[in-house]
Amino acid sequence: MIRLRGHGIGLRARHYGQLLDRAPPADFVEAISENFFAKGGRPLAVLEKVRRDVPVALHGVSLSIGSTDPLSEDYLRALCTLVNRIDPAVVSDHFCWGSHGGRYAHDLWPLPYTEDTIIHVAARVATVQDRLRRRILLENVSSYVGFQASTMPEWEFVTAVAQRAGCGVLLDINNIYVSAKNQGFEPRDYLNGIPRDVVGQFHLAGHTDKGNYLLDSHIGPVPESVWNLYAAAVQRFGPVPALVEWDEEVPALEVLAAEAQRAADVEAAALREAA
Ligand SMILES: [Fe+2]
Repeated sequence: MIRLRGHGIGLRARHYGQLLDRAPPADFVEAISENFFAKGGRPLAVLEKVRRDVPVALHGVSLSIGSTDPLSEDYLRALCTLVNRIDPAVVSDHFCWGSHGGRYAHDLWPLPYTEDTIIHVAARVATVQDRLRRRILLENVSSYVGFQASTMPEWEFVTAVAQRAGCGVLLDINNIYVSAKNQGFEPRDYLNGIPRDVVGQFHLAGHTDKGNYLLDSHIGPVPESVWNLYAAAVQRFGPVPALVEWDEEVPALEVLAAEAQRAADVEAAALREAA
């Protein structure tokens, strides 16, 4: 199986034309799975062209792994078809729920962090991994509220699900920073609470300071605060493949590539310092 390495960029419609003519200016590309569920058309043609150039990560937003609804058969079938077609290096989604009673919120809501939720989510992860016949990664989401029912910090929940289900963790460094500021924990406690061997990918992104909370906006360049936390993550977990997410006011391809290059530079400096 192809493995991710280095520093990647997200596949966004603004860059489709350029990416049909040239290889992506990054080590890998991450695509939002649901955008490519159609059986044909230009987006899928672009993704197949990109896949011929570089490794691809497929990142989903609608698995709703924590919901109490049954897993959607239609969704799993479409994801299997796409995975078989693209042969991605990584398939990921989120530690969240976003559907109830068959209705999708198109949002990534945090879960109550309890023993019951660990058992519920881990069983569903096992089902998904059996269907896909591969290990998946799940990403920590940003949050603004938590459940009073939670009995453990998020990093303990993430670790427990990963170890019980045998899945990996996509650690979103910006989400850790945003949630830490919003909920009043120390972001480095989060990093230290995740075992080294479960982390398969990092996300980096920008956020917006709304005064009394941080919004996970994915707008603009990665802030210094997130670069600093990324350096700490590299020193703990090593050179994990890292992706820059920039989803609002998507910049020119060259600007996005420069941000991925900055991630490579921050990683190299952190590894030098650790050595
Ligand atoms: Fe992310």
